[in-house]
Amino acid sequence: MTNSTPNGPQRDEVQAHRGASLAAPENTIAAFREAAEQGAKWVELDVALLQDGTLVVIHDDSVDRTTTGTGSLGALTRSALAELDAGARFGDAFKGERIPTLEEVLAVLGELGVGANIEIKQHKHHRSLEQLTGAVQSAIEGCPALPPIMISSFDPAALAAMHRLFPEMELAMLWSKLPADWAEQLAAIPASSVHLDYKALSIGFLEQARERGVKVRAWTVNEPSVLASFWPAGLTGVITDDPKVFLG
Ligand code: G3P
Ligand code: MG
Repeated sequence: MTNSTPNGPQRDEVQAHRGASLAAPENTIAAFREAAEQGAKWVELDVALLQDGTLVVIHDDSVDRTTTGTGSLGALTRSALAELDAGARFGDAFKGERIPTLEEVLAVLGELGVGANIEIKQHKHHRSLEQLTGAVQSAIEGCPALPPIMISSFDPAALAAMHRLFPEMELAMLWSKLPADWAEQLAAIPASSVHLDYKALSIGFLEQARERGVKVRAWTVNEPSVLASFWPAGLTGVITDDPKVFLG
């Protein structure tokens, strides 16, 4: 089974990585709106906890790279978000963008009808897995108009915890390199999808995944020709900073 076509992904299998992050500052509301404008049906986003347990959408464990401020997430509370500009470094047109909470992002995506691939990041300052996955659960359950949701993580324990909370939810194991026992690791979670660094893709793996009904999405690819040989072998989808080039 596969969702792919011989020549490329189906339109609902193009996920905007951190939003349309080539055109707008990553993991901001502007980047998620831009993804929708480019026609993406899904966005990928990263979540982590602040010191006070607020679940925010940000890739790194500090605000240094993406905002006008500095500091570890583990030293910040929700009140600090109003002071941090998450758009100005990207460009003047995005001045005033904030680090959003997951709740805020899900509300916007629900309005837009765009799905959320929530990547649960594990950082050293996180106190417990339960606090982290519980915060994701609260954001999902508190959303009045919930968009389609899937969960991904490099941490199999985070996925297993989410399976216990939401047994029907699609879960994707993130790998930079494919482990030899990938099928056993997926079964142990259990997870039905693999999100793999495109550099680790192979035709043989895709054929085995297809036989097992496992979905495979490649990250992070901004040039469609890179994946051309993999769609006929069963590649399901792509996670890209530039969704429009796969949706043209
Ligand atoms: O979901 C794929 C990709 O986001 C994983 O890597 O570092 O961009 O979160 P990273
Ligand atoms: Mg990510």
